[in-house]
Amino acid sequence: MTSQTHQTSAKERVLIFDTTMRDGEQSPGASMTIREKLELAELLQEMKVDICEAGFAASSEGDFQCVSQIAELMKDMTICSLARSTLTDIDRAGEAVKKAKSSRIHTFISTSPVHMKHKLRMGENAVLEAVGASVTHSRKYTGDVEWSAEDATRSDFDFLCKAIDIAIRSGATVINIPDTVGYSHPAEYGGLIRRLIETIPDSDKVIWSTHCHNDLGLAVANSLAGVINGARQIECAVNGMGERAGNAALEECVMALKVRGDSMPYETGVVTQKLSRASKMVSSITGFPVQYNKAIVGKNAFAHESGIHQDGMLKHRETYEIMTPEDVGVPSTSLILGKLSGRNAFRDKLESLGYVLDQPALNDAFKRFKDLADKKKHVFDEDIVALVDDQRAGDKERIALKRLKVVAGTDGPQTAEIELVIDGELQAAQSAGNGPVDAVFNAIRALAPHDAVLELYQVSAVTEGTDAQATVSVRLADQGLVATGKASDPDTLVASARAYVHALNKLEVRRQKAKAA
Ligand code: KIV
Ligand code: ZN
Repeated sequence: MTSQTHQTSAKERVLIFDTTMRDGEQSPGASMTIREKLELAELLQEMKVDICEAGFAASSEGDFQCVSQIAELMKDMTICSLARSTLTDIDRAGEAVKKAKSSRIHTFISTSPVHMKHKLRMGENAVLEAVGASVTHSRKYTGDVEWSAEDATRSDFDFLCKAIDIAIRSGATVINIPDTVGYSHPAEYGGLIRRLIETIPDSDKVIWSTHCHNDLGLAVANSLAGVINGARQIECAVNGMGERAGNAALEECVMALKVRGDSMPYETGVVTQKLSRASKMVSSITGFPVQYNKAIVGKNAFAHESGIHQDGMLKHRETYEIMTPEDVGVPSTSLILGKLSGRNAFRDKLESLGYVLDQPALNDAFKRFKDLADKKKHVFDEDIVALVDDQRAGDKERIALKRLKVVAGTDGPQTAEIELVIDGELQAAQSAGNGPVDAVFNAIRALAPHDAVLELYQVSAVTEGTDAQATVSVRLADQGLVATGKASDPDTLVASARAYVHALNKLEVRRQKAKAA
């Protein structure tokens, strides 16, 4: 069966603007390294996302480098940097995207009374002046300038129109209407987009864009209402990452338009078969688990539990499925390899899961797969994903786990003996703790002393069964910097140690970034 998508010839194109690396990264604890962002950018490009907001160049040297490198390397999508309305922000954004084949500057200022009064402390005239100056200045760097009215949905309509009119007359090519605080609802948001398009004189000269936050759980619905009423760009993020409750989820917007093309005659260019991979990558990078019942990419999105549903599915899949798992890149069967599987089968499997590894990485992954298959009878797709993501997380890190031995059980104290390679040097320590995890973390702290606070320790099983791998997420916070580490292993304590070390490594990268900024 194919999904219930409806092919009509007259579908209008909706651009997908991904902001996982900018607004998404603003989720507390979700920061990403340059290497992780480059990897994600590559996948977004393969997925045929139209515009990638790679960061906020003026916010830090790290973000600047990141936007610049993505701009230099990704030639098949537009690369965008966010900029406030100041000339220095715009200069930084312009500099960062200058090597892009197709570049965009996205500049914004608040237009709501509450933001102008309390945040900007600017009057209406000053805001309008800033709109004109920022767009005019951005146009010196690129012909593709997006202007956003921050908190548009709580702005006075006439003032919003004035600001948009100035932005268009100053050269903006995209007008974005953010529901910054996730306050609007579909009828209201769709109505606002329609009214703006009907009111603004040159509204047909620009692309109208949605940017909806999910505070009331309405981000995707609002974005679609925007499209139905004339918007032709959706700003969204993989897994709905973003400030507070997040942004509209990219995978939900894309699949809603694909599956309901009968009543929403719009199409995106996104290769939907890569949505599951993107979701897993973002979850792995950020350490944010995907809710089991999350639409499109949740573990249970295609699981049928009740007898009645299973019976219906066996008789005819469309009884309970409006799209197939294959449509979003979930393979139909997840039981795959075992310890007798060879290198070619392993490479084929990796490719079917969306991973193309170079030879050294493939060799390393294959070795790790064999080790895992020795410990675990069935190696599922989820195990392979965890294994490769884990390998990526451990690349070129300052601290690496070499060996761990833990004594646990009813007769305390629980102790851990650990060996870490720190800056190339092997070091060993032994510690006790209130439980084995505490003992392991104390031993790491003995070798790599730090003041970071453990904000989150979370264990989940990659698959089912007592031999399942455990995925552990560890979040550390230190002086305003936050880093999440993640690791998987059939031994929960080994996964815990590796996740802690991964978080420490990421925290170190953040410290360097913060120092350089
Ligand atoms: O939510 C918001 O208003 C934003 C703008 C910067 C576009 O993220
Ligand atoms: Zn936002």
